[in-house]
Amino acid sequence: MPDRPYTLLSCGMSIDGYLGSASPRRLELSNDADFDRVDAVRATCDAILVGAATVRRDNPRLLVRAQARREERTSRGLAPSPIKVTVTERIELDPCADFFTTGETEKLVYCPSPRVGDARSRLGPVATVVDGGQPVEMRRVCEDLGDRGVARLMVEGGGKVHTQFLCDNLADELQLVVAPFFVGDSRAPRFVSDGRFPWNPGRRATLAEVRQIGDVVLLRYALSRRCQTD
Ligand SMILES: NC(=O)c1ccc[n+]([C@@H]2O[C@H](COP(=O)([O-])OP(=O)(O)OC[C@H]3O[C@@H](n4cnc5c(N)ncnc54)[C@H](OP(=O)(O)O)[C@@H]3O)[C@@H](O)[C@H]2O)c1
Repeated sequence: MPDRPYTLLSCGMSIDGYLGSASPRRLELSNDADFDRVDAVRATCDAILVGAATVRRDNPRLLVRAQARREERTSRGLAPSPIKVTVTERIELDPCADFFTTGETEKLVYCPSPRVGDARSRLGPVATVVDGGQPVEMRRVCEDLGDRGVARLMVEGGGKVHTQFLCDNLADELQLVVAPFFVGDSRAPRFVSDGRFPWNPGRRATLAEVRQIGDVVLLRYALSRRCQTD
């Protein structure tokens, strides 16, 4: 079996476990110091993956922001920012979205086998469309990324994507930031949906670090032996 990348899940959530609000407006859960920490983590990764709903809803650029970090990467012969990766079934993605138009970095779109032709005609000029199988399984996505030289993958949500990585036991580390407020609306997206998680009351995850960053707290969980706990 090909090696899969070291995979780090990164997420900010409210005290009551929501990733955003029920309204179409993006909800900022973190603070400037934590955004900078996330930027530093991004700079250490070879690829960043988000679900198509996050591309549609948040229109993220997914670039390393700090000039010094971009320069440090280019001095190592890397692109200034990691490869951008998304997964989609419906392929309702706007080729003008910031995901596709920003950064001199490769963009990969994984979709089900029968949709590859359609996806290439819609997104071919702005991304590399990859056959993700039928259905698309995250394990196959990870293995394909490994074959493309991705050794360290950062998954930045949303909840449907996090749920699959966790339930398929593909996550080595979880960096969970808790924002100091409640959303209180069950129509809003949650950190994870229902699933059979490998960590449960009978098998507790290892808490590797707790760090206060201004008014938020970072909880770092080691989910595999590959994650360093010191
Ligand atoms: N707080 C945070 O850290 C954070 C981070 C990221 C996102 N968010 C928020 O999270 C929300 C989005 O989360 P979400 O759970 O609704 O969606 P999501 O995980 O971002 O994306 C789900 C979509 O990804 C595609 N997808 C996922 N798994 C797939 C598979 N196995 N095969 C094919 N396609 C697959 C599908 O796209 P198609 O519909 O195109 O088929 C699916 O609808 C947004 O509100 C966003 O603001 C918050």
